[in-house]
Amino acid sequence: MSSPQQIVNSFQQALNLSGSPNAVSTSPTQSFLSQYQPSKPTKALKPFSTEDIKILLLENVNQTAINIFKNQGYQVEFYKSSLPEDELIEKIKDVHAIGIRSKTKLTEKILKNAKNLVVIGCFCIGTNQVNLDFAAKSGICVFNSPFSNSRSVAELVIAEIITLARQLGDRSIEMHTGTWNKVSAKCWEIRGKTLGIIGYGHIGSQLSVLAESMGMNVIYYDIVTIMALGNSKQVSNLDELLKNSDFVTLHVPETQETKNLLSAPQFAAMKDGSYVINASRGTVVDIPALVQAMKAGKIAGAALDVYPHEPAKNGEGLFADTLNAWASELCSLRNVILTPHIGGSTEEAQSAIGIEVGNSLTKYINEGTSTGAVNFPEVQLRPLDLDQQNVVRVLYIHHNVPGVLKTVNNILSNHNIEKQFSDSQGDIAYLMADISDVDISDIKSLYEQLEQTPYKIATRLLY
Ligand SMILES: NC(=O)c1ccc[n+]([C@@H]2O[C@H](COP(=O)([O-])OP(=O)(O)OC[C@H]3O[C@@H](n4cnc5c(N)ncnc54)[C@H](O)[C@@H]3O)[C@@H](O)[C@H]2O)c1
Repeated sequence: MSSPQQIVNSFQQALNLSGSPNAVSTSPTQSFLSQYQPSKPTKALKPFSTEDIKILLLENVNQTAINIFKNQGYQVEFYKSSLPEDELIEKIKDVHAIGIRSKTKLTEKILKNAKNLVVIGCFCIGTNQVNLDFAAKSGICVFNSPFSNSRSVAELVIAEIITLARQLGDRSIEMHTGTWNKVSAKCWEIRGKTLGIIGYGHIGSQLSVLAESMGMNVIYYDIVTIMALGNSKQVSNLDELLKNSDFVTLHVPETQETKNLLSAPQFAAMKDGSYVINASRGTVVDIPALVQAMKAGKIAGAALDVYPHEPAKNGEGLFADTLNAWASELCSLRNVILTPHIGGSTEEAQSAIGIEVGNSLTKYINEGTSTGAVNFPEVQLRPLDLDQQNVVRVLYIHHNVPGVLKTVNNILSNHNIEKQFSDSQGDIAYLMADISDVDISDIKSLYEQLEQTPYKIATRLLY
């Protein structure tokens, strides 16, 4: 097992900092790397009763992740595609970690066979391809990468603002069909125009900085109070944003409150000739109402990257009225940019996802840190100092019922508990403890006692 400093080194190699400067998104959300700068050397931990860590990577997971795992000395088995169910059931029996993207379904049936599996890495945003509940109940922690593509989305929106303002989509379609149409009417510079951002989170705030640097004024509306970046200003309600913006862009999650957040009354409240951009979730804009507002000339253009129903695979003829009843009507409008949910789809985002998820898996395997897990209580302990000998880190995943801590601390009571942290999420709880004065011969006995407790889901000891 490697020390945190070695982990830093491997991430830096994975980043290939001396190579392409664009290997990783420059989003501030990438600041996760800074967590791994220990002020002094820390102790590398070894697992008890586990052989070499074996990791199965499917669906062409990015090379940055492979580099991280190989630098850790893990045995990596890599496939470019997903595996058929029966083959996956065979392969998963043996491995401690698996990395997938969106096509591999990790169902209860498959996970039941994963006897050694400790952690799942979804090298993507979504996690609905994994049975998260069953994984948690089996003591398997799941990580994903929700923010590695924020910058990619923000850049796409910048491109769309200019494209809409200059009607570039229409001009390009006309040229492709042989039409020369040199016009300047209703084509605008974006300098001095106001961008209204709804949802000032990872993407909205990135976009704010980029838009200001291009001379735009930025206002934003969010349900929480968020510090403004640059000269941007938070407004107190949605109406104020709508009536003052030349461009309105949405960057909110899909919730009950955000369903049809922009519908007929909101379009009516917007400036005449303003523009709408949605690269968040398909349900956030009432598209039939948008179509009507565009036909009425109220809205001068729209860019949509997400839709209530999206095809499950690539192919011709899939974006049709059979999927969304208004599809052909929307396609017939002028100055509408339609993209197939590609806001976050860049090489940089894939590389950053490889690093972020690779990093999470490594921290969980080597140190038990579950910070950022999607199905698990988030628990972390500071690293052990190099000179801390005879110390064992206990990782104990258990049912969240009364009496557990008493039983566990009774087992640990012959030793000194240096630090301990426990948290729960629903039925699952996770306890981490560093205990000192543990002789190497005590480790097996501690492990066996913890394994025999009635509340146990999984036990790991690192020393
Ligand atoms: N098009 C793509 O390819 C793509 C890629 C990544 C993310 N996304 C989507 O973009 C959206 C934003 O992502 P993010 O990473 O910036 O999320 P985030 O969680 O960082 O930010 C969302 C912000 O929206 C705010 N918010 C929530 N409900 C609101 C409401 N009713 N009104 C106003 N503000 C509200 C939150 O307070 C938060 O600040 C998400 O829906 C995400 O799924 C799309």
